[in-house]
Amino acid sequence: MRRRAGVRVATRRRPRHPGGGPDGHAADGGPLTIELRPLTHADAPAHCAGEDDETVRWLTGGYGTVEGTCAYFDVLAANAAAGSGKRGFGVWLDGRLAGYVDLDPDLGDGLDPGDVNLSYAVHPWARGRGVAVEAVRLVCEVLRATGVGTRAALRIEPGNTASLRVADTAGFALLREVVSETDTHPDGAPVTFRVFVRAL
Ligand SMILES: CC(C)(COP(=O)(O)OP(=O)(O)OC[C@H]1O[C@@H](n2cnc3c(N)ncnc32)[C@H](O)[C@@H]1OP(=O)(O)O)[C@@H](O)C(=O)NCCC(=O)NCCS
Repeated sequence: MRRRAGVRVATRRRPRHPGGGPDGHAADGGPLTIELRPLTHADAPAHCAGEDDETVRWLTGGYGTVEGTCAYFDVLAANAAAGSGKRGFGVWLDGRLAGYVDLDPDLGDGLDPGDVNLSYAVHPWARGRGVAVEAVRLVCEVLRATGVGTRAALRIEPGNTASLRVADTAGFALLREVVSETDTHPDGAPVTFRVFVRAL
């Protein structure tokens, strides 16, 4: 863990995907650098460009605008300054914004006291290279460093195969399946989640 310009920066180096990355990196071209950094307005266009139908289906429920994203980043920054509520980070892969991860100690909705919900998305060009698993590990380091929560928790829909793999590889265990009290599908039906947890 290190700090840059007064903000938390976490870095982890990881071997390249054995098959090489979809953006043309050589399979044996050295380690990837994956970092978490707070998001600023300057990141909003790249953040929005990194959304696709998978992101919308499994996480956001709709495509964001740059204006709305800037406002959302302002809320995350205010929460970080206050040390409460949902806090979010961009995930940088070799210096390029490649995803998003957040932590929310206050979510409830199927979680137990002390559980901190984690949410994440990886931009399509960066998928399949371990970015999500590494982002989850890094945000767990943030939780440990700040003393927030006693368990990290993931709520994943049973059909989200990629995210279920992330939970497994990141060392989370299935706790229960819940019907959400707040999240609904476009037809109004409640969303069912599997809850996975990992001690911090
Ligand atoms: C889920 C998501 C974040 C995974 O990101 P990623 O960086 O590609 O994941 P990783 O590279 O860390 O892969 C983790 C595991 O998932 C597997 N995986 C990745 N994409 C997969 C897919 N489409 N189908 C099956 N398995 C997949 C990887 O092979 C890897 O498995 P392993 O650890 O056994 O080798 C990404 O697909 C995404 O952004 N989806 C849309 C948003 C979303 O679903 N967010 C989570 C909401 S709960």
